[in-house]
Amino acid sequence: NHYVAIMAGGIGSRFWPMSRTAFPKQFLDILHTGRTLIQSTYDRYLQFIPNENIYVVTSTEYADIVKKQLPDLPAENILCEPSRKNTAPCVAYIAHKLQLINKEGLLICAPADHLILDAPAFTKVCTDAFDFVDSINALVTLGIKPTYANTGYGYIQHEAMPVADHVYKVKTFTEKPNLELAKTFLASGDFLWNAGIFVWKVKNIIKAFEKFLPEMNEVFVAEKEHFNTTTEQEAIERIYPQCTNISIDYGIMEKADNVYVVPSSFGWSDLGTWNSAYENMEKDYFGNAVAGKHVMIIDATKNVVHAPDKKLILLQGLDDFIVVDTHDVLLICKKEKEQEIKEYVAEVKRNK
Ligand code: GDD
Ligand code: MG
Repeated sequence: NHYVAIMAGGIGSRFWPMSRTAFPKQFLDILHTGRTLIQSTYDRYLQFIPNENIYVVTSTEYADIVKKQLPDLPAENILCEPSRKNTAPCVAYIAHKLQLINKEGLLICAPADHLILDAPAFTKVCTDAFDFVDSINALVTLGIKPTYANTGYGYIQHEAMPVADHVYKVKTFTEKPNLELAKTFLASGDFLWNAGIFVWKVKNIIKAFEKFLPEMNEVFVAEKEHFNTTTEQEAIERIYPQCTNISIDYGIMEKADNVYVVPSSFGWSDLGTWNSAYENMEKDYFGNAVAGKHVMIIDATKNVVHAPDKKLILLQGLDDFIVVDTHDVLLICKKEKEQEIKEYVAEVKRNK
């Protein structure tokens, strides 16, 4: 009865230039652990979800990378999207497909690119959340105690009293607030970060689509007879151009009134930006985190450096910078500007 959809179609643009559209960060071993982010994610779910119930939803262009990195995953569990429409269509796709396989199915929709250090604690939180959504119509998300005013996350405020073991009703959900608002949220001590890991019953997330994204939902319903048949991919090719580009956070989580949160601590990091990688990397005495065999650092502090092993990089007098060298791009960027890397990449593409 338990399923997971690993959402792996993003392009990880804030991790540029290491993460590239053709090979985004979920397929990289950012922290040098020996497994790529999607492989670690898969390993984590395999602890409590049967292999045949693990799905990966990604862009058609990444299907071969997924096959190669997850050789034990059944090939038919790799769902291919013809275009990038953010996470709402991705969730609609897996939900409509599973509804026909298992009406009472329970589903986790999760990012492919997070770091989770405490796997047993994570399993426990997920199984608690599964139990909860099995009993009531709830959209559950996992919440993380915030540590700074990150504007790339969703912020969740919940009721004081739990409604079940570790589960709280959500009062407000604010996706990607501006810095001022994020600071206010943090200062109030009343908010959690949205981990972006969602747990719900398949039929209940479809109910939410009916209510909040009815047009998108209709497009999937209209092609329903093709799901789980040989014509599924053709149907998807017809469906996607008709879907709006919107995330599940903006499209549903901000609007629904049956959202619940399980406050969690399992050593979570989004690894969404260079700063989050920095926080999870080993640092030298001066707070520099370095990946690369030949990096020399002189009078420089708190930098994060990624360099190809074959090249010598010498850093002098630099503090709080991101330095990333790849075969064709060198990035030198203030750490505090990391959220803007996304826009710089867009600018680079425009000027090409
Ligand atoms: N299949 C598919 N298709 N996957 C996608 C697509 C798509 O079009 N777009 C993004 N994804 C995948 C990404 O690869 C990632 O694994 C996951 O969906 C989440 O997308 P992000 O683009 O990384 O979202 P975010 O980090 O800006 O925000 C989300 O995560 C935060 C925590 O990390 C939101 O849920 C926030 O509220 C949350 O705080
Ligand atoms: Mg992310």
